[in-house]
Amino acid sequence: MKRTFQAITINKKDLISLIQQTNGFLNPKIELEQYCIDAQSAVDIVFFAGVEFNDIKNKLVIDLGAGTGRLSIACAYLRASYVLSVDIDINALRILKENVKGLGLEDIVLPLCSDVNRFEIVKQVLPNKMHITTIENPPFGVQKKTADRFFLQKAFSFSDVVYSIHLANQKVHQFLTKFIKKFNWEIDHVFPFQLKLKRTYEFHKQKTKSVDVNIYRFKRKGKENN
Ligand SMILES: C[S@@+](CC[C@H](N)C(=O)[O-])C[C@H]1O[C@@H](n2cnc3c(N)ncnc32)[C@H](O)[C@@H]1O
Repeated sequence: MKRTFQAITINKKDLISLIQQTNGFLNPKIELEQYCIDAQSAVDIVFFAGVEFNDIKNKLVIDLGAGTGRLSIACAYLRASYVLSVDIDINALRILKENVKGLGLEDIVLPLCSDVNRFEIVKQVLPNKMHITTIENPPFGVQKKTADRFFLQKAFSFSDVVYSIHLANQKVHQFLTKFIKKFNWEIDHVFPFQLKLKRTYEFHKQKTKSVDVNIYRFKRKGKENN
C-alpha cells in the first residue's frame, strides 16, 4: 500500500492491522533489551500523543531506540513531518528500512544508526523552530541498569515534549519524578497501560505476557501545551 504524505489518512483498526504485518527482530539481542512492541500498543500510544495532545502531526518526531519501527510507522501515518528513527543496532534498522519501504514511507521515516548517548540535534538549523516530539520505548534498564535514564536525558536535551514507556511500579515512578527534576522537566501525564509481550527469548515461559507499564508524557517545566 504505497501512499504519499498528503494522502495518509487511516483509522485505528486499519493501522493496527498494517503494523501487525511489519517484521519484528530477526535475532533479538537481550543485552539491548530488544522487544518488539505489539501493534495495538504502538497505535494506542501514538494516538494518545497525536490525537489527545496534537504532538505528532506536522512535528519532527524522534523515535529513540526505534527497533524495527512500529512506533515510527504509526507516527508517519498520523502525519508527522518527519520521523527520525534512531537505534544502535544496524540489523534492527535494516528491518525497519524494509518495513518502511514496503509502506512507501521512505520520505518520512529516516533511519539513523547511533548510540543514543552519541546522538545530537542542533535545533537552530531546523526550519522555523520545528517542534520536536520524542517517543521512546527504551530498555527498562533490566540488562544495563542506567539504560532508561540515558534515553530520557538525551531526549530532554532537544525535545519539546517526550513520551516514554516505563515499568509501572512505585519505585520507578519515584525515581523518575526525582530524576527529571534535575533537567527542569516535569511529568505532565501518566497513562497506565498494558503491553502484550510476545515470547522473544528462551527464558520466556509464556507465549504472550501482559506487562504493566506507564506511558509518561514529560514536558519542560513551566511550558504550556503547544
Ligand atoms: C524495547 S526495544 C523497543 C523497540 C521498538 N521501539 C519497539 O517499540 O518495538 C529497545 C530498543 O532500543 C535499542 N537500544 C538499546 N540501547 C540503545 C542505545 N544505547 N542507543 C540506541 N538504541 C538502543 C535496542 O536496539 C532496541 O531496538
